[in-house]
Amino acid sequence: MSDLPISSDTAAFEVAAVRDAQGRLTEPCARAARAMMATHGFVILTGLLSHAEADAGLALVRAALDDPERSRCAFASQTDNRHRRRDFCALPASPEVTAFAATLARRLEDVLSAYCGREHPLLEVTTLTSYFGSSHQYIHRDPPGVISLFAALEDVSDAQGGTVFVPGTQPSGIAGRPHDPGTLALMDLASIAWNWRILRHNLAKLWAMRGSTEAPLGPGELRDRVFSTKWDEHQPNLLRFLIGKNPLFSLAMLTPPTLWRLWRHRAELRHRFRLVQTAPKKGTVILYQSDMLHAGPDNRSPAPRRLFSMSLARGPVTEKMWHSGYSPHPTLKERPMSFGDLLNHPAAQEIEPTWA
Ligand SMILES: [Fe+2]
Repeated sequence: MSDLPISSDTAAFEVAAVRDAQGRLTEPCARAARAMMATHGFVILTGLLSHAEADAGLALVRAALDDPERSRCAFASQTDNRHRRRDFCALPASPEVTAFAATLARRLEDVLSAYCGREHPLLEVTTLTSYFGSSHQYIHRDPPGVISLFAALEDVSDAQGGTVFVPGTQPSGIAGRPHDPGTLALMDLASIAWNWRILRHNLAKLWAMRGSTEAPLGPGELRDRVFSTKWDEHQPNLLRFLIGKNPLFSLAMLTPPTLWRLWRHRAELRHRFRLVQTAPKKGTVILYQSDMLHAGPDNRSPAPRRLFSMSLARGPVTEKMWHSGYSPHPTLKERPMSFGDLLNHPAAQEIEPTWA
């Protein structure tokens, strides 16, 4: 997005996946990945899945998307989901999906184990697909206490909207040293500045889509995205912005003292935090701490962007917290699984899985 100062250079956050005889990351590789997670809040593991495995994962995603009875996700971008700009849905806990998730868990065991105990629940397995015309999410934090994973099943370009991260913004701090309150306040201030630009970007894009032949607005779409009373934190909804009903960004945040601080700290905000957009190649897996600042950009290309995603709890969770922040498929709710269940799954023991 030209309005935001975003870097596409992700080299400093990448670790090339190297596996041992048991199929897991080698200790030096896992150590490097753990250090990235502790320092930056996320790590990009290139080549964790072979192309055949990514293809097998993509077949699972396509099967879910083709199902008219699919279980739509209850979080983030509901309006985009309704207007076919995104398709975020939960994958069923079928033998194939579970085998895919178990293989990922096994390969990443020595990284995930730094955060997740074996008894901690698998919160959801989903697919995050976005299409041309989707909105750029506001910079936000997901509910805390979770490690989330994105697997690229195809090459994802900048224009398709690879996830944007703000390195080092996990509230737990850098390498075990918590951020001081002043730094956390500066992160909030930076988010306000970025989200103002995202609001403008989304509105300009919607305006341009009115007469577009590439991504024409659907019936009622402009009203739903700009003037609706319905809950959706990631739309450029002016009504909810004006009445303060969007907790991520609203007029109520633009108080005179905040505007003054934005002006006074403008140079520091420019240099202190940087936005990095990922463009993962097929087979790359990204792990991130859920409460670091990030956003799913809009897809500015005609090619759909499809990601496989799963989330593991870093601690015990209440059912209320689980179901309000994440979207487990009904089959996962019926038969919950833990990180340990995934590691004990027969597919997790296969070095070269037979399902791929
Ligand atoms: Fe998010």
